[in-house]
This record gives sequence, structure tokens and C-alpha cells, in this order.
Amino acid sequence: VDHSARAIAVFDSGVGGLTVLAALCAELPHEQFVYLGDTARLPYGTKSDESVVRYALQAAAALVEREVKALVVACNTASAAALPALRQRYPQLPVIGVVEPGADAAVAASRSGCIAVIGTEATVRGGAYQRAIGQRRPDARVNAVACQLFVALAEEGWTSGAVARSTAQRYLAPLFSPDAPSAMAADTLVLGCTHFPTLQAVIREVVGEHVTIVDSAITTARAARALLAARELLRPKEAAGAAGHASPLSFLATDGAARFASIGTRFLGRRISADEVELIDL
Ligand code: DGL
Repeated sequence: VDHSARAIAVFDSGVGGLTVLAALCAELPHEQFVYLGDTARLPYGTKSDESVVRYALQAAAALVEREVKALVVACNTASAAALPALRQRYPQLPVIGVVEPGADAAVAASRSGCIAVIGTEATVRGGAYQRAIGQRRPDARVNAVACQLFVALAEEGWTSGAVARSTAQRYLAPLFSPDAPSAMAADTLVLGCTHFPTLQAVIREVVGEHVTIVDSAITTARAARALLAARELLRPKEAAGAAGHASPLSFLATDGAARFASIGTRFLGRRISADEVELIDL
């Protein structure tokens, strides 16, 4: 059976993973994608690991039923908590998370080895980034900070202005102000949450020009391409539809098609209409 014509599944707790989907579409323009946002249970970032693992397995089951050829876990919280469980449950399915590509990019970018990571409470608590960076560079010093409010700001569309700026300052100034202890002076900041790329401009203002900001979306897309190529699962160009339609997308959500469409449009950078969004139960 030739599985290369199948779609690639992309899963997130909500709309945030659409930033990763955008990068995937750019990297893999001949592929078809099915995106599932578990909007009924968002946020994952404040939940226990046990719940996140259970949710991720349920989401994967719904996607595997649709005969997909790979699963991209486009959620940092779910990648941090559930990747081993997903790989164990579906040993044949290529499963790509965002944490390992993010750690690769951070280690490539950092000269000093002092790396700051921001993410949700659950991502920071579980220590997955700290471990992944430590495996790649054992002498690295990693400071991880939970920035849970960024998730709400991004969904509200308050990605610039006074509130966003003071929130960024409150979370990040202790790590990046010139008076911060020099042991903490990171030269690289990992955006370890799908929502944070939308706040990149205010984050940049607070951390300064000299810090490299790493967004795992692009490295994840490259990792997905590499893994699909290695398994001979890339869709041949000729099969990509005579209509010349780049990256056909379908959207699944567990709640609120209209809200998914309106907020998702901002995250994806392309219009999503509510009737494109199919509601499913997990
Ligand atoms: N998608 C989540 C992440 O990347 C952020 C939103 C949530 O907390 O569910 O960690």
C-alpha cells in the first residue's frame, strides 16, 4: 500500500498549533493536512501530565482513524508530556513533536550555552526542554519560566500595546534586564509554546536585540520533512492535484467552530471560515 498520498495529521490543544501548520504548509507544499484543535479542553498548559497524556491519546486515535501517514504534535505541552505514550501506542506511525526540534534550534543558536525557555506551566514543570537541551549540550544552563498569561493575550489578539508589553516585562525582565545576575544572562530564548510567536515583537522589545529568539515551528517543519523523506512517505509532486491547490487543509475542533475560525485565522495567517471546521467528540 502506498501511504504517501495520505494526509499529515497535526494536533494541538487549540488554535496555537496553526502557527506550526503554517510552517508545515510552507515546507511541504505538496502535502495534505488535517488539523485537530482540542478547543473544548484548552488550555492543556495548566493541566496535569496524566490528563494531557489521556487527551493526546484520544486525539491521536481520532486522527489515526482518518488514515493519516504521520502525526505532528504541534503543541509544546502535549509534546512535553505525551510523546513517549503516543510513540508507544502507535509504533508504526511517525510522530513528530515540537520540543526536540526546538532544542536543536536553541543549541545551534546559543554561543554561551545559557538558554532561556518560556512555555506553559506544564511544559516548564515537566522539564522536557531542560532535558532535551541538556542531552544536546551537557554544559548548557537552562532557565525555564512559565508565561501562562501569554496564551490568553495571544488568543485575545492583544499581542502589542501596553498590556502585552507590561506582561512581557513582568515575566522576562528578571531574566534579561541588564541588572540580572550574570549567571542568568541567556543569549537565546526559546518560544516553547505555540502561542508565543504572535507576541514576538513585544518579547523582542524586552529581551533586546542581542538575544536570539528561537521559534520551533520552522525547525519542526524541517524535522517532519526529514522524517517523511526517510520513511519514503513524501507525496510526489505530480500527485499534488491538477488544481494546483497548495496544501489542502481540513480542520477539526472539539468545540466552537466560529471561535476556532476567527482566532485561527490570525494564527494561521490565512482565512478560515466556520463552515470549514468540523466539530468532533473525542
Ligand atoms: N498549545 C499549548 C502549548 O504549546 C498552549 C495552549 C495550552 O495551554 O493549551 O503549550
